[in-house]
Amino acid sequence: MSDDTILEVRDACVTFEKRDSVVHAVDHISLTMKRGAMLGLVGESGSGKSTLAKAIVGMQQLDSGQILIDGLSQHDRAKLKGHAKAEIVQMVFQDPYSSLNPRMSVGDAIGEVLDTYEHLSAAEREESVAELLRLVHLPADVAPKMPDQLSGGMRQRIAVAKCLAVRPKLIVTDEITSALDVSVQAVVLNLIRSLHEQLGLSMLFISHNLAAVRYICDDIAVMHHGRIVECGPAEQIVKAPTDPYTRSLVSAIPSLEDAGRDVLLEPSLDSSFAGAVR
Ligand SMILES: Nc1ncnc2c1ncn2[C@@H]1O[C@H](COP(=O)(O)OP(=O)(O)OP(=O)(O)O)[C@@H](O)[C@H]1O
Ligand SMILES: [Mg+2]
Repeated sequence: MSDDTILEVRDACVTFEKRDSVVHAVDHISLTMKRGAMLGLVGESGSGKSTLAKAIVGMQQLDSGQILIDGLSQHDRAKLKGHAKAEIVQMVFQDPYSSLNPRMSVGDAIGEVLDTYEHLSAAEREESVAELLRLVHLPADVAPKMPDQLSGGMRQRIAVAKCLAVRPKLIVTDEITSALDVSVQAVVLNLIRSLHEQLGLSMLFISHNLAAVRYICDDIAVMHHGRIVECGPAEQIVKAPTDPYTRSLVSAIPSLEDAGRDVLLEPSLDSSFAGAVR
């Protein structure tokens, strides 16, 4: 694995046994991501995106194959302790409620993550929390608020801030805009894109929404029935898809092929892509 590879998935398989069938949720997937890249993973419901994401972050055991993050296998990563372990990979989930304790203020929730690997004075902690809030475009006076005082979009930004607090080398986001209103989706997508540009983060961005993936990702991998059917630069996937399944995804969004990247999230175009793939 070369030094500029952040993620390498080698012939990974995950199978689930149901009562009368076997589901090949991840079926011999191989994938490489360069450091600092923004890779989109798109595919219909049940295609195996979340199973692959969980395998990458170590929440799902592989039946066979291997996943290396920054050159380390899951076995290598399990041996790391504290800060070093927390640093490598983080996941942001669809539902920001699930990652926030309803009885803990925003500042304490982010501060708690900082405390797991840094010994900060109260003033330093407050400053770091404010800096993380600034990164996700929230004012420092959000810190004393409780999760139920925030909108869905703000909660999702807090979840991103908690994730950034451990300074991971790779961030995996799984449908982070799906539960949000269309207008708020654009705000969160713009935030993800600016974080990628500003911090040079390596990100695997998972979504049903091909327009959203195309808007923020350099490269796109298309998943269907547990396999990657096509992977390449976003423009190529959208303008000259070779796989029949990718072609059907692209043609489901009429404005996608002709629209420039930056007009995709104009409010007037929202209705043409919102949920079009789902
Ligand atoms: N824990 C599990 N036990 C049994 N089957 C599972 C489990 N997790 C996922 N599956 C099955 O594996 C397949 C892939 O599911 P997965 O959740 O990875 O798809 P997905 O692409 O993330 O779908 P969605 O877009 O709806 O989130 C599905 O058929 C699903 O029913
Ligand atoms: Mg999923």
